Amino acid sequence: MTKLSLLLGALAASVCVQSHALPSPPTVTQAPELEDRATTCTFSGANGASSASKSQKSCATIVLSNVAVPSGVTLDLSDLNDGTTVIFQGTTTWGYKEWSGPLLQIEGNDITIQGASGSVLDPQGSRWWDGEGSNGGKTKPKFFAAHDLTPSSITNLNIRNTPVQAVSVNGVNGLTITGMTIDNSAGDSGGGHNTDGFDIGSSSNVVISGAKVYNQDDCVAVNSGTNITFTGGLCSGGHGLSIGSVGGRDDNTVQTVTFSNSQVTKSANGIRIKASAGDTGTIKGVTYTGTTLSGITGYGILIEQNYDGGDLHGSPTSGIPITNLVLQNISGSGGVLSSANNIAVVCGSGACSSWTWSNVVVTGGKKYGSCQNVPSVATC
Ligand SMILES: *[C@@H]1O[C@H](CO)[C@@H](O)[C@H](O)[C@H]1NC(C)=O
Ligand SMILES: *[C@@H]1O[C@H](CO)[C@@H](O)[C@H](O)[C@H]1NC(C)=O
Repeated sequence: MTKLSLLLGALAASVCVQSHALPSPPTVTQAPELEDRATTCTFSGANGASSASKSQKSCATIVLSNVAVPSGVTLDLSDLNDGTTVIFQGTTTWGYKEWSGPLLQIEGNDITIQGASGSVLDPQGSRWWDGEGSNGGKTKPKFFAAHDLTPSSITNLNIRNTPVQAVSVNGVNGLTITGMTIDNSAGDSGGGHNTDGFDIGSSSNVVISGAKVYNQDDCVAVNSGTNITFTGGLCSGGHGLSIGSVGGRDDNTVQTVTFSNSQVTKSANGIRIKASAGDTGTIKGVTYTGTTLSGITGYGILIEQNYDGGDLHGSPTSGIPITNLVLQNISGSGGVLSSANNIAVVCGSGACSSWTWSNVVVTGGKKYGSCQNVPSVATC
């Protein structure tokens, strides 16, 4: 802080005092804040991450321009002032270290996060890829903790090659994610594993629109939350549009989730709802509408109440009912490989009810032989 800026700050504070006739005199510490909060701060290079973290409270707009985050460091913007804008410019990179991350963390209220044209967030995940994901091998850092964001937006982030899970949405109320690309396609042959696109838990009022996800695990997995919408998305290479697994966590309620106008291609599953066997919880009001399936290698539609870490294991249980499920306009004619299964529904007794299926066409694969307790409107 220069003498001049202190002087200007003090001047601004005193002007403020006069015009608003505040009862108490300003303290010296208020003055720089009043001045700085109008500021755009630009950070770059190897010191950019630590400088941005330290200065986050004094910037109205934070521009991260070609920041090279050192190894083992979180680019941590979890103490932002309300209303802050964060802009990624150029290429953001991270150093290599075996640790759990996250590599990026942003929290706050009324936060606007943007990717500038041509920008990319590139943690160069291939350095960690060993085909084992989070099940073993190298310890891999999770990428982006988008946690505790209250009405906030994330626009046009372009993410490439995450070590393992890409975006975790948790504890959020009112988040719009628009035009995000998560491109881990290099992991298809390069050992990418458990590279989930979006993992969503304990969040409400979330809209993800126009996302493109190329990966090797769930495109979207909603583990818990209310009023979550995924619309206009493309999922390629992964495990499809998933609810769950639900059960055995702190929060086991999924309510009002809509997947609409999206495409799932070259994926293990198209649509998957996983309720863990033996656990309790709620899956209510899930809608899939306008979903196109192609190149499905496992199950076009998989709905199970006997998930045990693997699909369709053992007897289904009834502790996590799946109710008010709507499948509407699911276009998967010839979309399932001949070696794969079209539709599997395995429900516990009385645990799948009030379903609506209309215009669900999923063909090309085999008929699954072990469906159980299938509601009459569904086919299996
Ligand atoms: C669901 O979330 C969206 C996006 O935040 C919001 O506009 C809408 O009002 C919410 N609906 C309800 C019923 O709360
Ligand atoms: C479902 O598809 C039909 C026929 O293609 C179309 O008329 C209708 O609007 C669609 N409904 C929804 C909710 O997308």
